[in-house]
Amino acid sequence: MEIQLETQPYPSIQADALITYVFDKEDKFDGVLGEIDRAMDGHLHALGESGELTAKPLETVLVHFPAGLAAKRLLIIGAGKPDKFDVGADLRKIAGTAVRFLKPRGAKKIAFLTREGERSAAAAQAVVEGLLAADFESDKYRTEKKSRAIESVALAGFDAGTGTTAAIDHGRVIGESLNFARDLINEPSNKLTPRMLAARAEAMAKEAGLGIEVLDERKIAELKMGALIGVAQGSVEPPRVIVVRYTPANPRPGAPVLGLVGKAVTFDSGGISIKPAANMEKMKYDMGGGATMLGAMRALAALKPSVPVIAVVPATENMPGGRAQKPGDVQVAMSGKTIEVINTDAEGRLILADAVFYARKLGATHLIDAATLTGAIEVALSNVHVGAFGTPREYLDKFLESARAAGEKMWPMPIDDEYEEMIKSNIADIRNTGSGKGGGASTGAWFIKEFVDDTPWVHLDIASTCWVDEGRPWLAKGPTGIAIRSIVDFAMKM
Ligand code: BES
Ligand code: ZN
Ligand code: ZN
Repeated sequence: MEIQLETQPYPSIQADALITYVFDKEDKFDGVLGEIDRAMDGHLHALGESGELTAKPLETVLVHFPAGLAAKRLLIIGAGKPDKFDVGADLRKIAGTAVRFLKPRGAKKIAFLTREGERSAAAAQAVVEGLLAADFESDKYRTEKKSRAIESVALAGFDAGTGTTAAIDHGRVIGESLNFARDLINEPSNKLTPRMLAARAEAMAKEAGLGIEVLDERKIAELKMGALIGVAQGSVEPPRVIVVRYTPANPRPGAPVLGLVGKAVTFDSGGISIKPAANMEKMKYDMGGGATMLGAMRALAALKPSVPVIAVVPATENMPGGRAQKPGDVQVAMSGKTIEVINTDAEGRLILADAVFYARKLGATHLIDAATLTGAIEVALSNVHVGAFGTPREYLDKFLESARAAGEKMWPMPIDDEYEEMIKSNIADIRNTGSGKGGGASTGAWFIKEFVDDTPWVHLDIASTCWVDEGRPWLAKGPTGIAIRSIVDFAMKM
């Protein structure tokens, strides 16, 4: 999808569709809409009077062959109440809705007209992110692909300054990185084993100019990553630990090092504590946390934060093979802590235990992990919010500010000391499930914290937000790419 700035007068922009938006209770059109209305001989105003232009959020009104405009169609999207309008989040949705509405209708060249209230660099970035995210297709394995594509988008209404071009580039990097991660999350597990994920990460790192090292099963054994090995031993596919590094050009001595750790279980059958058959196919997306971190690294390589960033992605299958670990087994993690495995389906926390410990060994002074960790987070927050845990509280709050800036919904969740009691084991240091008295997302988080120690740390449980079963006007069903934009924002401000 080609995206460029357009500076022609709006009525003379040639396109298959010209897109703009209206707010609730707008009846006299001035500025951009005034100009369009005048070119259309008052027909826009008449449309408003007709009551069809309700401006409800993301409601669409399509005008064919609008007299007075060079464009073949005029698409007007509802923007809701102006006082509730968030330039980032809402422009992303409006731009995305335009793509998902127009693509199946055969539009190839479109023009997006931003109004006078939203002419910042942030607005241009949001529009580009929304366009690209909405363009994502899951048709890789279809023999007959949809031939329809939006070939080019002209952005009208912005100043043609360097600020705008930089914002467009920024938006493109984020949008493409999001889609890179979503493509990985979509892959079935036979097309994305731990070794294949490592190869995809290597190709990405090479292209983006990032450092990468992939630890194979021998190196993993040498490092004594017993918790990861315990999960991996039930599968014939060997595990991998993917380490991706970004180093700033002029590293400040003593600067913090951000560690990004992402769960990458390329298929979670549950292991010996096997999952029920219904919906098990979805467990191909249990590598969503790992994909999130790889997507974030891809973006950071281009955006160049001032701090070094290390991503550690432990990748494995969780299978019930003959050598699989069994409920009751005790594993020794890399840190030396012993773990009683009560339920082999609580495998994410096991592989993260070794991965966060290893990230600290590699020099990470601050941590963020992302994982499709618990079904319990869906009970708590549905598919609306990411569950955000962390210590100290100030570090978590700082991260939540980035989430707000990025327009991603995340909610702070508790990890008070009481949860520690729930993961005490009778025969080992800790057990990998809670006491069965609820709080499943919090006991999962506490388990990871055992290996984080005092390092400032945020844990994002994305189990219910990394994938959506129903499409939204601005986003296809399937992988969402959630958390990447917040993590990138946080790293850039660090
Ligand atoms: N991968 C699952 C969590 C999950 C559930 C992700 C639904 C996406 C959608 C995780 O490994 C798991 O199985 N967790 C168990 C933990 C329990 C056994 C303590 C869970 O949440 O049921
Ligand atoms: Zn599991
Ligand atoms: Zn899992």
